[in-house]
Amino acid sequence: MINSNILNRVKQAMQGTSKVRPAWQRAGGRCKPASRRPESPPKLAPETAMRPIKENGRFRYKPVKRMSVALRPASKMGGNAGTTSRPRLWREDFLYAEEDEHMEEKQYLMLPGPTPVPPRLLRAMAKPMINHRGPEFKALHEEVIEGLKEIFRTKNDVFIYTAAGTGAMEAAVANFVSPGDKVLVVSIGVFGNRFASIAERFGAQVEKLDFTWGTAADPEALAERIKADEKKEIKAVFVTHNETSTGVTNDLKALRAALGDHPALFIVDSVSGLGAMELETDLWNLDVVVAGSQKSFMIPPGLSFIAVGPRAWEARAKCRNACFYWDIEAARKSAEKGQTPFTPAIPQIMALAEALEMIRAEGLDNIFARHRRLREMTRRGIKAMGLKPLAADEVASAAVTAVLAPDGIEANAIRKVLLKEFNVVVAGGQQSLDNKIFRIGHLGYVGDLEIIAVLAALEMVLNRCGFKVELGKGVKAAQEVSLAALSGEGRA
Ligand SMILES: Cc1ncc(COP(=O)(O)O)c(C=O)c1O
Repeated sequence: MINSNILNRVKQAMQGTSKVRPAWQRAGGRCKPASRRPESPPKLAPETAMRPIKENGRFRYKPVKRMSVALRPASKMGGNAGTTSRPRLWREDFLYAEEDEHMEEKQYLMLPGPTPVPPRLLRAMAKPMINHRGPEFKALHEEVIEGLKEIFRTKNDVFIYTAAGTGAMEAAVANFVSPGDKVLVVSIGVFGNRFASIAERFGAQVEKLDFTWGTAADPEALAERIKADEKKEIKAVFVTHNETSTGVTNDLKALRAALGDHPALFIVDSVSGLGAMELETDLWNLDVVVAGSQKSFMIPPGLSFIAVGPRAWEARAKCRNACFYWDIEAARKSAEKGQTPFTPAIPQIMALAEALEMIRAEGLDNIFARHRRLREMTRRGIKAMGLKPLAADEVASAAVTAVLAPDGIEANAIRKVLLKEFNVVVAGGQQSLDNKIFRIGHLGYVGDLEIIAVLAALEMVLNRCGFKVELGKGVKAAQEVSLAALSGEGRA
C-alpha cells in the first residue's frame, strides 16, 4: 500500500519539483564509494524520468521517456492483462534507488515445489553467515535434526544433504544397493521411473512394477510379486509416496505391509509427501525415507533429507558401491560433531530452523488437515467448472492436483494465459502428460484464499481459451468447502 507521503513524492518527481535528494547526497556523499555515486541528476524535463544507469563502473543519469514506462502492460504489474490503466513508475522517480529497478511483483506460485517461502524464512536466510565448523552451527544442526525427526516420526538417524531431492534419491541407492543387486521399483509416474534410472545407473538389476499413470500402486500386486520371490533375491523395494507428476498418493502403509517379513529394504521417496501428509517412518517400518526442502518445508530448493533405519545401516555395511559426496557413513561421522561432511547451504538450514518452528506452532496434524482441505477445495472447484482431475478421489494427492485440459485446448495454453494475465504459476505435465494436464500445487505455505484466487483466475482463463465456464461456479464450490471447515469441524 502506497501512503500519501510517497504519492506526493511521486507527483513531485513527475513534475520535476521533487525536493527529495538521493540517499548518497543526503549523507553528504559519504554513503557510497565515489565510483558508485551517480553525478547530480539533471533537472527533470516534464516528459522524461531520469534513471541512474551504470556505465564503465560509474552511474550516470539517463533520460527515460515517461510514456514508455508509464504505459507498461498491467500484466507485468500483476494487474489485468492488456490494459494500460495503471501508470508504472520507476522507483528512482522518487527514491533514486540505484540498482533495484523492478517493483516487486505479486506472483501466485502454485507449484508442487518450489513452493512460496514465508517472509519469516526469507528473513532467517538473510542472517549473517556463520562458521559451519563452529559452535553456532553445531547448535543449529542439532536443533534442525531433532525437528526433522519429529516430522519423519522417527528415532532413526536423519541427515541433511545440500542437494536437490534427486540427490537424496541417489544417496538412497548409492549407499544401500550394490552392483548386481536385484531391486524392485514400484512406479506410478515420473519419479518412480527416476528411482529405476538411478538404480540402473548404479548397476542394480532393476525390475519394475508399473501402474498406469494417474492410478496408485496396488498393494496386492506388490504382495504377489514379493511372494513369488521365494529365494528372497530382491534386496530393495523402491516406492514413491506422493507421485508429483500425476497427483497421486500411494498407500505407503499398505505397500509396506505387502512385503510381510521379506528382508528387502523398503526405500521411500517422500520428497513431495513428507510434512504434507501422513508418514510414519518407525511405525510403518520404512527403512529409508527421502524428502526435500522446497516442498512442505517451505524453504527454497537446496536441501534434501534422508532418514536411515537400522536395517539400512546393515545393508550399508555390506554395500559395494562407491560414492563420495553421498557417503552416508561420512554424514554419520560428521553428525557426531554437529556438522555435515561438506559445506552445507547454511541459509537454507537457518530457514529450516524457522520452518520447523512454524510447523510446530501449526501442528503436523493440522497441517495435514489443511492440505486435505486445499485438495478438496481444488478438486471441487475444478469439477464444478466442468474439468476433470487426472486422479480418482480415493488416491488424490493432498499436495498437488493434476487437471486434464478440456478437449481441444492445450494444457500449456491455459498455463500460459494464467501466467500472462494473472501471474498465476501452475506446473505443466511431464513427459507423456506434457500439454495434456496442468498441475495446481497446494503445498506448503498456501491457504484457502490462494486456492480461491487461482480458481477465479482459471475460470476467466478458460473462458478466454474458449471453454465456457459460468463465472464463480468453481470459486463457489471451493468457498463452500472452506466455509464448511470454518463453521463445521473447524479449520483443521
Ligand atoms: C516425488 C518427487 N521425487 C523427487 C523429486 C526430485 O526433487 P528435485 O527436483 O529437488 O531433485 C521431486 C521433485 O519434484 C518429487 O516431486
